[in-house]
Amino acid sequence: MQFFIDTGDIKEITEASKWGIVDGVTTNPSLIASTGRKQEDVIKEIAQIIDGPISAEVIATDKENMLKEAQELVKIHENIVIKLPLTMDGIAACKFLTDNNIKTNVTLCFSSNQALLAAKAGATYISPFIGRLDDIGHDGMALIEEIRNVYDNYGYMTEILAASIRHPTHVRDASFLGADVATMPFKVLKSLYAHPLTENGLEKFLSDHQKANK
Ligand code: G3P
Repeated sequence: MQFFIDTGDIKEITEASKWGIVDGVTTNPSLIASTGRKQEDVIKEIAQIIDGPISAEVIATDKENMLKEAQELVKIHENIVIKLPLTMDGIAACKFLTDNNIKTNVTLCFSSNQALLAAKAGATYISPFIGRLDDIGHDGMALIEEIRNVYDNYGYMTEILAASIRHPTHVRDASFLGADVATMPFKVLKSLYAHPLTENGLEKFLSDHQKANK
């Protein structure tokens, strides 16, 4: 399973990059807005830190302008993946970019039929939003399972990028179900390391070692 960090915060990306387990970065317009900086500047800086796919989202809602934005975004760095919303225009733009060998991440996916459309358009990644489905009383993880089945039925190569991850259980369950990628906030990524038995066990090993070597 690949791990992407879902943030525009350079400090977080820099720290997580040192852990050796971050494969890529996803951003969205809200995350970029929270930095108070221009998307282009943030993405440029991320590309200097992480050598892996970096999703940058278009703002336009019509195909023609999505493609114009995509053209500018791909100039920033070779690792840029164009993030497009799951709309009719977004899917049409995805098909065009796929045909022109540009990687895409189709976002705001909330149903397996939507994921099927993205795969038909040749999307590199599909981003089902688990947490936002859970928030409204639906089952985000059931969507991951459905998409895995649909893609495996037809041999689609579009990678399932579990997004809107809120806690470590989301990561565990998405990995059980065969999601290809999990993108998560810094705090969730960090929390994956934690287990009280690891901490207590290490403390005991170290104190036993010290006692024996007095
Ligand atoms: O980047 C897309 C997604 O991960 C957003 O998550 O927490 O805003 O639902 P969230």
